[in-house]
Amino acid sequence: MHNFEQIVQAASAAFAATDNPDALEQVKAAFLGKNGQITDLLKGLTKLPPEERKTAGAAINRAKEAVEAELNARREAIRQMALEARLAEEALDVTLPGRGQPRGGLHPVTRTLERIEGLFRSIGFDVADGPEIEADFQNFTALNTPADHPARSMHDTFYLQDETGGVAKNVLLRTHTSPIQVRYMQAHVAKYASLATMPEIRVIAPGRVYRVDSDATHSPMFHQVEGLWIGEAVSFADLKGVIGDFLRRFFESDDLQVRFRPSFFPFTEPSAEIDMAFMQGALKGRWLEIAGCGMVHPNVLRHVNIDPEKYIGFAFGMGPDRLTMLRYGVNDLRLFFDGDLRFLRQFV
Ligand code: PHE
Repeated sequence: MHNFEQIVQAASAAFAATDNPDALEQVKAAFLGKNGQITDLLKGLTKLPPEERKTAGAAINRAKEAVEAELNARREAIRQMALEARLAEEALDVTLPGRGQPRGGLHPVTRTLERIEGLFRSIGFDVADGPEIEADFQNFTALNTPADHPARSMHDTFYLQDETGGVAKNVLLRTHTSPIQVRYMQAHVAKYASLATMPEIRVIAPGRVYRVDSDATHSPMFHQVEGLWIGEAVSFADLKGVIGDFLRRFFESDDLQVRFRPSFFPFTEPSAEIDMAFMQGALKGRWLEIAGCGMVHPNVLRHVNIDPEKYIGFAFGMGPDRLTMLRYGVNDLRLFFDGDLRFLRQFV
């Protein structure tokens, strides 16, 4: 009798030590299987004298039932454990706040670009764009900057790899928006080739440009807005008028001064940097460079088959990131491109 209780206890302990259905079935075999302990006991009955068989048989059967009851209890416990684990895993926390639909907004520089486009459209300028991966010809050569020209080093820049892993010879990330001048003039000339006098070119071209540069006022990616006006009698005075009017309208203020400081660009002659200063407010009297400009060099016109004896005009390349800093009073350009929403949300 003692022996049977021990078997039941051993079975119960062995079942309890399993935690999944497969393991449990393995352990079950050791007690109830073909060569299991209980089965062996039943087989042993035949060796007993007939008068003992009945009581012994009844006792073994009780033990067998007890083992089966332990087994079923354990099966049910394992099933419950698995169910609870799954529920915990798939739990939905209905108390979490919803994700919602965050309200989007335009980037401050995008706002500036849209504002610039609107102001220039209002005085009859077209808006164009061009590829950010640009050809050497449009980025440099057509802009009167041949391969050995020292001005190329001012634009020391991001070149691209060719299929062999070497530096691709003819393409680079554009270093300015001036190549769009070239593309726009080429398209214009092709479009009006049959006319004796082509219509004026009046266009601005906003876009991203790339240079190896990074500090509080320079970022390796920044924006420019190119401007170009070519006609039969476009003068430097027109350039000064357009830029001055534009800035007063952009900042909605007459309290600003603009100055043109002599400079050099291979593709304009004469060339100038445009500085501006507010006459009031926190930035009062501080001159800030906001653009490069000049009269388009005759060689540039020749490169796109425009007769420099007949046509003349000006170009400028403005820094809308700087204009954005001035308009909103931001002192570090890099903040615009860090992607920190806490900063960017202020402008929405
Ligand atoms: N492309 C010049 C620059 O990036 C700016 C510029 C544009 C100057 C047009 C003159 C005319 O520095």
